[in-house]
Amino acid sequence: MEFFLDTAEVEEVREIAAWGILDGVTTNPSLIKKSGRDFKQVVSEIAELCDGPISAEVTSLDTDGMVREGLELKETLPPNVIIKVPCTPEGLAATKILSDQGIGVNVTLIFNASQAIMAAKAGAMYVSPFIGRLDDTGADGMELIAEIMRIWDNYPTIETKVLAASIRHPMHMLQAMQMGAHTATMPTKIFRQLMKHPLTDSGISQFLSDWAEVEAAGNA
Ligand code: E4P
Repeated sequence: MEFFLDTAEVEEVREIAAWGILDGVTTNPSLIKKSGRDFKQVVSEIAELCDGPISAEVTSLDTDGMVREGLELKETLPPNVIIKVPCTPEGLAATKILSDQGIGVNVTLIFNASQAIMAAKAGAMYVSPFIGRLDDTGADGMELIAEIMRIWDNYPTIETKVLAASIRHPMHMLQAMQMGAHTATMPTKIFRQLMKHPLTDSGISQFLSDWAEVEAAGNA
C-alpha cells in the first residue's frame, strides 16, 4: 500500500515526509497554479524531499507534444519524477512511447474502468481514477475503484498500480484500501484527519497530568 500527497506546496511535503510514511507526490496544473510558483522549481524541490514517484503533468493534447514534454521533464528534473498524461487516445499513445523507453507514466483523469484497462495496456505505471469528481456528478466513485480492482484480480500479471485519486475524506482512502487499491493520493488535510482522534488527545492529556502527579510525589 502506498500513500501519496496531492499537493504542489513544498512545506506540506516537508511536513508529511517527516512522518516517515510518504511514498510519493502527485501534482497537477491546478495545484501548480495554486502554489503561485515555477512548475519545474516546485517539482524539483518536492523530488528532493520525497524519493518516491513525483508526478509532473504534461499540458499538450497531441501525442508528439506529450512525448516531447515528458522527455524534457525527465531530462531536466530529478530521476524520481514520473510523467502524468491525460486519459485520451493521444495520451495512450504517449504512454506507450514513454513507457517503452522505461519512463514511468501516471495516466490521470480516469472516470471508468475501460479507460483504466486501456491505460494499463499502454504500459502505465499508475492509473488514476478520480473518486471525488465522480461523486460530484452523482455517480459512486468508490464503485469505480471496486470495479477496477475486480478486473485486476482477473489478470495477476498486470503491473500497473491503481492510484485512487480525488480523495475528499478519510473514508475514501479507507474504502480504497479495503478494495485493494495499491495507492491513494490525498491532500495534506486528509493525512492530518487520518491521524486525528479525540480519544488519543484526551488520553495523552490524562497520562501527562497523572504523570505530573507521579513526579510531584517524587515517584518518577
Ligand atoms: C491526482 O493526481 C489529482 O491531482 C487529484 O487527486 C485531483 O483531486 P481533486 O479532484 O480534488 O482536484
